Amino acid sequence: MPPTEDLKNVPRHIAIIMDGNGRWAKERGLPRTEGHRQGAETVRRVSEGCNELGVEFLTLYAFSSENWKRPKREVDALMKLLELFLRQKTPEMQEQNIRLQAIGRLHDLPESCQAQLHRSIESTSQNTGLTLILALSYGGREEIVDGVKSLIESVERGHLDKGMIDIDVFGKHLYTRYYPDPDLLIRTSGEMRLSNFLLWQLSYTEFFITEKFWPDFGKDDLVEAVRAYGKRHRRFGAV
Ligand code: FPP
Repeated sequence: MPPTEDLKNVPRHIAIIMDGNGRWAKERGLPRTEGHRQGAETVRRVSEGCNELGVEFLTLYAFSSENWKRPKREVDALMKLLELFLRQKTPEMQEQNIRLQAIGRLHDLPESCQAQLHRSIESTSQNTGLTLILALSYGGREEIVDGVKSLIESVERGHLDKGMIDIDVFGKHLYTRYYPDPDLLIRTSGEMRLSNFLLWQLSYTEFFITEKFWPDFGKDDLVEAVRAYGKRHRRFGAV
């Protein structure tokens, strides 16, 4: 970890769009899956870094609703990698006091993957360090639609009065209801778009875009992003 004593303002919640695994692999003449494998190592490194910095929540865009459209071979490889990652890294999360959580349409995942995910979530549930949230089969628009359905259900069952619906109440019907909104969004590999990630929650989030591909993103890059965040003046629409 590079020097961090000068870091003024560590974000409570960092969200990351992990992009560029495929390009990283292509540059080296390797299969795309090798890029994802290296990307999984970066997940380990960056989670550890966030934990060391005292970040409370880290949300990673690990598999989007749209990623199901990739060739079956790549989807299968990503699901296998996720399951392997969870199986191998859960003891490490325990040692580091990291709590695992997940958001998205998790029932879309292969059953063995869901089972491992729930085992890892359960076994780390008492940890009090970083909360690592994996967004899996996640889409921001899908989350809003699911939130609307859940609101309607609450109204129909008589648990909620229509007139009570406001921003806070709606937020309680999203997958992220237990977490604060992200303070900092990092996107690797230079793209300037949200790609259907946390559309509701990123309303006032500061962005940090780096040209680096995700497999090359290190703790020094994380510290650089946090340092840049510390220099921003967040006004939340006020003056
Ligand atoms: C983007 O790279 C990355 C993904 C679609 C998935 C992210 C997955 C990982 C980092 C590995 C597995 C995750 C965990 C949590 C173990 P891309 O394939 O879109 O890259 P490209 O834009 O260069 O093609």
